[in-house]
Amino acid sequence: MKTAICPGSFDPPTNGHLNIIERALKIFDRLIVAVAVNTAKQPIFTGEERVDLLQEIFDGQPKIQVDRFEGLLVDYAKGRGVTTILRGIRNMSDYEYEFQMALANKAMHPELETIFMMTEGRYSHLSSTIIKDVIQYGGKASEMIHPIVEAALKKKLR
Ligand code: COA
Repeated sequence: MKTAICPGSFDPPTNGHLNIIERALKIFDRLIVAVAVNTAKQPIFTGEERVDLLQEIFDGQPKIQVDRFEGLLVDYAKGRGVTTILRGIRNMSDYEYEFQMALANKAMHPELETIFMMTEGRYSHLSSTIIKDVIQYGGKASEMIHPIVEAALKKKLR
């Protein structure tokens, strides 16, 4: 069974994330969507809240499992017995950051392979940060996020 871990901050998950996950289901038999800690970010949702959001979004999709971890991605992957990481790339700056992370992960865990998928053009301008701003200042974000995420963001930010 081909399984990949799709790690991210998901603070919050955007339609860009969801698009990558849905497309990846055509390639992998099972995806573990793993909410992780990015030490460079101050999340507005707790890890548990992000897991709950993703679980609600993917409810009824048996090929997707939502999980959460703290610590290194390589240790989590080892613990789950998975050797494939899936990440989306939007642009060149993502590429540089992802390249660094993939190489660092590979140095720590040589069996680990990182697979990248290009974000669809219509999502390439999205970011969780932009979406939080749009919602906070009363803008419309329904094209950018799932209705479950929009409701949760409005509750949190307004
Ligand atoms: N389309 C549009 N936007 C997308 C997207 C897509 N397909 N995929 C991601 N994004 C956006 C997100 O909205 C987010 O925006 P933001 O920067 O405004 O928050 C940004 O791209 C990236 O966020 P995301 O993919 O959710 O997670 P991340 O880059 O913060 O994740 C981890 C990084 C968690 C995977 C990494 O820090 C990690 O592995 N942490 C565990 C600790 C560890 O092992 N560290 C060593 C790593 S070498």
